[in-house]
Amino acid sequence: AAHSMRDKFRNACATPVETLRKISQDMLSQMEAGLQSDGESRLRMLLSFVEHLPCGNETGLFYGLDLGGTNFRVLRVQLGGKEKRILKQESKVDSIPSEIMTSTNEELFDYIARVLADFVATEGVDCNLILGQKRELGFTFSFPVSQESLNSGKLVKWTKGFAIAETIGQDVVKELQAAMERCKLDMHVIAMVNDTTGTLAGGRYWNEDVMAGLILGTGSNACYVEQTSEIPKWPPSLPKPEETVINIEWGHFWSPHIPKTEIDDDLDAESVHPGQQVFEKLFSGMYLGDIVRRMILKLAEQACLLGGVTEIPSNMATPFVLRTRDVSIMHEDESENLENVARVMETIFGLKELPLEVRKVIKDVCEITAARGARLVAAGIVGIVRKIGGRKKKICIAIDGSLYEHYTKFRAKLHEALVELLGQEAAAKVVIELSKDGSGLGAALLAASHSKKDLEDK
Ligand code: BG6
Ligand code: GLC
Repeated sequence: AAHSMRDKFRNACATPVETLRKISQDMLSQMEAGLQSDGESRLRMLLSFVEHLPCGNETGLFYGLDLGGTNFRVLRVQLGGKEKRILKQESKVDSIPSEIMTSTNEELFDYIARVLADFVATEGVDCNLILGQKRELGFTFSFPVSQESLNSGKLVKWTKGFAIAETIGQDVVKELQAAMERCKLDMHVIAMVNDTTGTLAGGRYWNEDVMAGLILGTGSNACYVEQTSEIPKWPPSLPKPEETVINIEWGHFWSPHIPKTEIDDDLDAESVHPGQQVFEKLFSGMYLGDIVRRMILKLAEQACLLGGVTEIPSNMATPFVLRTRDVSIMHEDESENLENVARVMETIFGLKELPLEVRKVIKDVCEITAARGARLVAAGIVGIVRKIGGRKKKICIAIDGSLYEHYTKFRAKLHEALVELLGQEAAAKVVIELSKDGSGLGAALLAASHSKKDLEDK
């Protein structure tokens, strides 16, 4: 019974190449609709108001803040211009306390400002800051923000594990600036960007072929460089640079061709933001482990997967006990007896000596879930590549996030699917580069490339 239920799950999650093609076509058309006007598409296609991507000429001392879905980073970088590039970079990372994610506006921004203030206090005498000059800051804020300029914008909604109702609709830069004042910190936010944009900017600093930024981490999203002539919704009253960065917010994408199961529906219904971010919920780091847990539980309850074990472990019904990291360990277990699968099952659920047949089914569930996710991501990437079209001979995509970095088989499936979709030759022109922790640096670099000081020097 367990085998037949696994096979049904496999069929329900299947993503043959023809299906992926339809999904990538839907991604492309929804991107176009989202550029027409707001509210036209599930894809928000948020304007970043980035005018100058970093090119390497930037100089001076800049700070970066990076609020992701799991970690918060602060960094300071001294830029030495074209030849010297990064003279010095220091950073500090903090795992965001989970209670902060659902606290109050003031608590969240006070937390950010406090960590920043402590870090600023460690600034050495070698920092080339002119006396009396304000420190300038780039802020990576990894949530959808409707921007009116590069350094202002209202939170559209929270995603991932964050939920603080009073922040929605507020200008996040103002909130940060107010918290900095409360901390007696006199700094100037030059740029507020999404983490995808930060990653793109960090990648572009080293490589001018970088045209898109992708996050495969706790959440998932992508951005790319668009010509403003292709953006009908560009506000007519504002000056039009030639190009800018568009935050797709693909986490909320949907296409009728996407294979979805009852398990996905349950996960969504029981999540912090039901009905939202349904694409991201199929594969991003926050959810992948929970899809697998739910399927194992279903197999145990309805198909006697655990056979001889009398009782199903009670924590198997607890959301998020099985993490994506555990799924990658089980999926990547190549040992004959699937020792790692057994170890994870024992550590998390206290299940001892599971028969090999059971371990195999569990590994299959991991494989099926990850393959669907990786192939959907590939379809999304192809949509972006098509949107960029012939503008570039080679398209580099800067990518960051724990899912891509640590889950080797997910990464391999993604690359395989890109070749299936594009063909060997075209796929070779799409280069995905890991840009680790690049988004905080990217925000600092964008602060540098938009700094008034810097422009005067140009
Ligand atoms: C980090 C980036 O490295 O990756 C963040 O600096 C981003 O901005 C994050 O949000 C995404 O990965 P994860 O796995 O931490 O959610
Ligand atoms: C979520 C956020 C998005 C972010 C992504 C990756 O999808 O809505 O803004 O880029 O997570 O962190």
